[in-house]
Amino acid sequence: MATHWWRDAVIYQIYPRSFADGDGDGIGDLAGLRRRLGHLADLGVDAIWMSPWYPSPMADAGYDVADFRDIDPVFGTMAEARALIREAHAAGIRLIVDIVPNHVSADHPWFAAALAAPDAPERDYFWFRPGDQAPNGWRSEFGGPAWTRTPNGDWYLHLFTPEQPDLNWDHPDVRAEFESILRFWFDAGADGIRIDSAALLFKDPALPEVPENGPHPYHDLAGVHEIYRSWRRLADGYPDRALIGEVWLPDAERFARYLRPDELHAAFNFDFLGCAWDPALLRACIDRTLQVHAAVGAPATWVLSNHDVTRQVTRYGRSDTTFSFATKREGTPVDLELGTRRARAAALLSLSLPGAAYVYQGEELGLWEHESIPPALRQDPMWARSGHGRDGCRVPLPWSGDEPPFGFSPTGAAGSPWLPQPPEWKDLTVAAQSGDPSSMLELYRTAIRLRRAEPGLHTPELTWLPTAPGALAYTRGPGFACVVNLSAAPIALPDHETRLLASSPLDGELLPPDTAVWLRLRN
Ligand code: NOJ
Repeated sequence: MATHWWRDAVIYQIYPRSFADGDGDGIGDLAGLRRRLGHLADLGVDAIWMSPWYPSPMADAGYDVADFRDIDPVFGTMAEARALIREAHAAGIRLIVDIVPNHVSADHPWFAAALAAPDAPERDYFWFRPGDQAPNGWRSEFGGPAWTRTPNGDWYLHLFTPEQPDLNWDHPDVRAEFESILRFWFDAGADGIRIDSAALLFKDPALPEVPENGPHPYHDLAGVHEIYRSWRRLADGYPDRALIGEVWLPDAERFARYLRPDELHAAFNFDFLGCAWDPALLRACIDRTLQVHAAVGAPATWVLSNHDVTRQVTRYGRSDTTFSFATKREGTPVDLELGTRRARAAALLSLSLPGAAYVYQGEELGLWEHESIPPALRQDPMWARSGHGRDGCRVPLPWSGDEPPFGFSPTGAAGSPWLPQPPEWKDLTVAAQSGDPSSMLELYRTAIRLRRAEPGLHTPELTWLPTAPGALAYTRGPGFACVVNLSAAPIALPDHETRLLASSPLDGELLPPDTAVWLRLRN
């Protein structure tokens, strides 16, 4: 039986502002991306996920959408988006668009109409409430209150910035509108939809305070499942389309409910992303992931980074290697050499686990979090509201040359990159790494090529092998094995026929610390 592409794809996330700038204004765009498609073809990815590219006032870097059926002029035009989809398909690369159903931009015509008249029907599309005080003490996910007062004295709910009013998903027009938006993009040739903040759509209309324990008034309310069932029916009306949820839920069983056979096809594995570089914790995370996904017949996903979280080179170079938004640890000491070594091993781990793997642009270059962006240049609203920012993982990619903009913008461009690039990235450009077998880029290229070629990596099985304390070792189907040494001492390798790929040079026959290797075992 042919496997659906989304079950074991390598999916590359494009953050369009920072991928490649075609017109020289210092902001990435579709012209730049189309010129650089060759990089993605060389990397061998199966699909790209486009972070929002819609018209937006950019209060939250495009996650504040004013029109879901067009492209922001800073990125290009709808005609260019259609051309990109065609060109990507011609290169064998599928394309996933990012839909943001929890909220719209304050500039969206619905919200403008809602503000224009107190009796406008569009008011019911949002969460307006009268009163002298905010209806409750809910906090925005970015810090600060989740309610803002309008000029007529009413309050409206925004779980993110005030420029992102939350939609009322109990309203049938909201549901109908998003079904129409999904159709628009599937008709335009999109192969999948990434669903932003997928667990937040419904709110308890009584608007109770968030309790210490007990049911949360807006995380993971039952109504979301009915919505995703209807989206699944819609997606099933097209050949081979995938729905991928951004579901941040610590409870693995509740997470898996989104992946029941009549709901979403896949969801991001943030449990894995936030897991410490620790053999027992990683093994427990992998087992838990495989078990909850198998129970609903969904493919696991393996995610190490995205545009919201600290880049893994930096995370893994700290003494505490976990990730959470509450403790971003900006400014705590980082050993970049160690972080890079571990990120290389983590790449071979995540690319050899059963399921789909995600690569966030720049991770294939080993970029680290840029933590010294001057406050005046920071753009992320989360920074302004909470003091924890995400700009450091969103810095424009270095392509070539010895100094900024490193080929991100065309030569002689008028604008400098919208966020400053560290000068040290001259050693991490695509040009500097291409052809260097010891580079991160060549590691990713080779690993993705082998992943396609190795039959074992196309099976859903994973079997743990006995190994030294502090290491992880598993087989995938007959013949393929991965060993990751997370201990402080070199370890012996299992008996094998061929070493396919190692994340760092081996120490004779031994696997050094913080190194992973792919092996073909003897029959
Ligand atoms: C999750 C997105 O990944 C993030 O970048 C955004 O700020 C929030 N959702 C709000 O849309």
